[in-house]
Amino acid sequence: MREVASVAELRDVLEAARREGSTIGFVPTMGYLHAGHLSLVERAASECDLVLASIFVNPLQFGIGEDLDAYPRDLAGDRESAERAGVDVLFVPSTAEMYPEPVATTVTVAGVSERFEGASRPTHFAGVATVVAKLFSLSGPCRAYFGEKDFQQVAVVRRMVSDLSIPVEVVACPTVREDDGLAMSSRNAYLDPAQRAAAPVLHRALSVGEQMIREGVTHADEVRVAMTEVVAAEPLAELDYLEVVDPVALEPVGPIRVLADRPVRLLGAVRIGATRLLDNVGTVVPAEAGR
Ligand code: PAJ
Repeated sequence: MREVASVAELRDVLEAARREGSTIGFVPTMGYLHAGHLSLVERAASECDLVLASIFVNPLQFGIGEDLDAYPRDLAGDRESAERAGVDVLFVPSTAEMYPEPVATTVTVAGVSERFEGASRPTHFAGVATVVAKLFSLSGPCRAYFGEKDFQQVAVVRRMVSDLSIPVEVVACPTVREDDGLAMSSRNAYLDPAQRAAAPVLHRALSVGEQMIREGVTHADEVRVAMTEVVAAEPLAELDYLEVVDPVALEPVGPIRVLADRPVRLLGAVRIGATRLLDNVGTVVPAEAGR
């Protein structure tokens, strides 16, 4: 594995690989790598000739008072796990390398950025879209691998790529979970033992909703109420949102109908102590639903 800290060197390495006809798979991350990140690397390695991963804790996507300084870091551990999972080029730029001047140009994606995470963290997705646009400009044409765990992030990135005709194919990969259902996340490191024991409540709530839809419930409100009750029963969890949405527009749906090509998605976020946890699940709508 080759580690690269500068933009110029990254461009050179990727240019040389492309000249040799290699396809590039790109996994952008903020580090503190866990099995969820590594699943993206493994998928990229199985589909591309060269795997590029980046580790950059992007200040632009943290709001004032958020956890930028406390964000967990372990570069030595990340190097090892990245190499083992199949990363060929690890890009680890400093903040000064990425943002040598105060950023004057930002990318905002209207609509899909505004609800849910965007409502709770108003500047977050502009920070994500801006850094991902910049990373794609550095990577050049590639397949880029993102986790469905951050479902709204994938929708924002897809919309940006489409609107700006960026020559990158976005690949969304399934969420990797702990045995008790908790979606893996670097932020799970913030949870104390009691909070960690409470944390699977979010996935439990989403699973209740998923099962109701599978069994033919067609009123999204019923599903919302049932999911909300599951979270309400956990005293350590404070609900942010639980919704039934169209998976592309991320608009809440009313009746759950058969939309074969876009089954509704269940999205949720809870706060446990100071830690916000996100999760989402896909659904299978039975053929007779909504008829
Ligand atoms: P980060 O939170 O480090 O996540 C990097 C990638 O790993 C994202 O695509 C995320 O969705 C994916 N991921 C995280 N947990 C996962 C899990 N349990 N299963 C599968 N995939 C998972 O997301 C970011 O960083 C940043 O916003 C970034 C896109 C790098 C821009 O700064």
